[in-house]
Amino acid sequence: MKITSSLMTPIKSESDALIVSFFLGESFSPSAKDADELLNKQITQLHKNRDFTAKAGEVLTLFTNNGQRVVLVGLGKKSKCDLGTLQMASKNAIKALVKTPAQSVSNYISANEFENIDKATVCKIICIAASHAVYRYETTKNFKKDNKHSLKSMDIYADEKLASTVRHASSIAIGVEVSRELGNLPANICNPDYLAKQAEDIAKKYDNCSLSILDKKKMEKLKMGSLLAVARGSRNQPKMIVLKYNGADKSQKPHILVGKGITFDTGGISLKPGSNMDEMKYDMCGAATVIGTFVAVAEMQLPINLICIVPAVENMPDGDAYRPGDVVTSYSGKTIEVLNTDAEGRMILCDALTYAQEFEPQVLIDLATLTGACVVALGHVASAVMSKQSQLPQDIINAGIEIHDRAWPLPLWDDYQKQINTSFADMQNIGGFAAGTITAGCFLARFTENVNWAHIDIAGTAWENKKEGATGRPVAMMSQYLINESQK
Ligand code: BES
Ligand code: MN
Ligand code: ZN
Repeated sequence: MKITSSLMTPIKSESDALIVSFFLGESFSPSAKDADELLNKQITQLHKNRDFTAKAGEVLTLFTNNGQRVVLVGLGKKSKCDLGTLQMASKNAIKALVKTPAQSVSNYISANEFENIDKATVCKIICIAASHAVYRYETTKNFKKDNKHSLKSMDIYADEKLASTVRHASSIAIGVEVSRELGNLPANICNPDYLAKQAEDIAKKYDNCSLSILDKKKMEKLKMGSLLAVARGSRNQPKMIVLKYNGADKSQKPHILVGKGITFDTGGISLKPGSNMDEMKYDMCGAATVIGTFVAVAEMQLPINLICIVPAVENMPDGDAYRPGDVVTSYSGKTIEVLNTDAEGRMILCDALTYAQEFEPQVLIDLATLTGACVVALGHVASAVMSKQSQLPQDIINAGIEIHDRAWPLPLWDDYQKQINTSFADMQNIGGFAAGTITAGCFLARFTENVNWAHIDIAGTAWENKKEGATGRPVAMMSQYLINESQK
């Protein structure tokens, strides 16, 4: 969806639809008054009759004499309206339009009226939520002709001062959509080769980008024994994708994002149970996040240097697959006893993280659907952030709060480290039942000792359920984090 901003009033708007917002029990905003005029005071009447009371998320569509749609959307009590309410209400308003033939909408959820949220934040949330509501996965589904999504453009009511905010938000929205689409694609399409091809297209499309790819041969030469162990079971050969964006002086050290790209996780020889195994097509959502964030940054042309690294591997059982009990030597030289082939994410990430450090990052962050335990700990609300640093995780968490794509810390104290000690190698790849998310983080910490590093477990946030599919989280949080970094 194309997003623009202007100061076109409802009376003058020629869009197919208008969105006008209301707080419960408050007087109408200037835009709402305009819309009420267009509708011959119907809105006043609806309020009087209590047919529309502006409860949070409530939506009602009316028509002007010229056939223009006016979507009324409730924001609830002004004093209680937070980012979550705004996000939900914005989505509802757009969802009321996506099934209609309306192609354009003017959005008058007015940034000026909020008590608890600043104008720029209102704009960002509205834009990203709108784009979210418009997206529908279509690639492998035949839709009937009368089930077309028509909404193509949204103009939001905002002055020149907010124009750059709107541009940023619309870039983030594009990144979120890229991430959702990659996440939703089935594993027979979205395999390591496919991810590499997408990265190639992105590097070509945007200015200041370049791409390099390590194939299996190159990784064998480099002795990335941990990643290669996971890859052995699959006919789909692994790829290490390295996307670079140069938006700042070469002397500026890069921010590096590493994303887990398990294009399908069967568990390997430690085979997962059959129920819901299909959801493991989402096990590349760390990769989707870093690629989506890369696209957002390239769209914004932020003045930073960014490198996104995606180890793309499929985890399959096979006569040649790695087995429980195997000891492998990682790229770092450290040895790992494989006690469960289903703890494969950390096995590919450790080699990617070691490789990333050769680019001397100022910040190194990995994102991964790493542990089921993370869903138990934080549900589908917050991503988990783990780090041995103090500032970095705080900066990430603050960015998440700012754009309502939230994360929360878990500790990486050394007390947990003993759970991954073993007599047969430098470490084992699982830490037992207790604190499964943290011990996975502790494993990665052993490969990132001298670098400003954070690990983000997105197992609970990257996808919602079978119907909603990939969420595109946490592209918004990561993009906001990098925007904040670029302004330091
Ligand atoms: N990709 C999974 C984690 C996962 C599972 C994410 C379910 C979201 C939903 C990961 O590779 C995995 O299998 N982890 C194991 C680790 C265990 C063997 C220590 C898990 O969480 O069960
Ligand atoms: Mn697994
Ligand atoms: Zn996995």
